[in-house]
Amino acid sequence: MEILHTATELREWSRSLRSLPGNTVGLVPTMGALHAGHASLIRAARATCSHVAVSIFVNPTQFGSGEDLSRYPRTLDADCAFAQTHGAGIVFAPSVEEMYPPGGTTFVEVEDLGNRLDGVSRPGHFRGVATVVTKLLIAAEPNEAFFGQKDAAQAAVIRRMVADLLLPVKIVVCPIVRDLDGLALSSRNAFLSQAERARALSLHRAIRLVESLASGGQRNSGILIDAARKIIAPVPGIRIDYVDLVDSATLRPVESATPGTLFAIAAWVGSTRLIDNTILP
Ligand code: PAJ
Repeated sequence: MEILHTATELREWSRSLRSLPGNTVGLVPTMGALHAGHASLIRAARATCSHVAVSIFVNPTQFGSGEDLSRYPRTLDADCAFAQTHGAGIVFAPSVEEMYPPGGTTFVEVEDLGNRLDGVSRPGHFRGVATVVTKLLIAAEPNEAFFGQKDAAQAAVIRRMVADLLLPVKIVVCPIVRDLDGLALSSRNAFLSQAERARALSLHRAIRLVESLASGGQRNSGILIDAARKIIAPVPGIRIDYVDLVDSATLRPVESATPGTLFAIAAWVGSTRLIDNTILP
């Protein structure tokens, strides 16, 4: 597996491939510690693009002070083999200095959306995400870029940003991949003890309950949110960050669910922050 380290190398790889007729490039941005959720994005990219780049970069600007930047899992060798197995042509693994030239002062801020959902308890998080994804898109010049519905707010922020900045790339959002017991796969699940993992399943139980209430005709935001909170709140060792029913594009709260409304949860399980969501029928 070829590993590229600079934006120039990535751009040259992409341009030389796209100069040949019929070739297209897909980009899958990640922070590594790859799992089956990431694999689904790589495979989706391979299904529509002739060549796929996976970026692996633990982006410091999207972590707040006191968050888990220093303990975030870093497993580059295993990730490269994993990315190759699922169809990636190259891995882009830049240094922090490559992505953030010393003295840099330029950031991408997606107003309004960037301060909703995770943006409330993680101020500056989406600014960091939008900035690094912009840099990756400018460097890779992909035809398509692939993201997961698992990070629903992130997907909304990136769609808005790509539209606003007139970036010539198609954004594809892929479904949430879950473990057999329903827990949404996340690199952060590695931080959970066995007991915490069992408690974390309450997020998925709450999601399933809300889905069934909505399918049964319950549309009222307050009732759906309360039902989910009642499942999660009594579980020891869990602290709810948010439970919200919002428009999936603007992330603004809605009074009643319509097809396509986003129901999203974030909670601390011990010292690990987990998120989960569903798009209501
Ligand atoms: P990371 O958490 O590594 O996730 C990379 C991509 O994989 C994201 O688009 C995320 O939504 C998707 N993903 C993670 N878990 C998933 C699951 N269980 N099912 C489906 N997709 C899943 O998200 C980031 O990195 C960063 O913020 C990044 C976009 C790379 C910018 O730094």
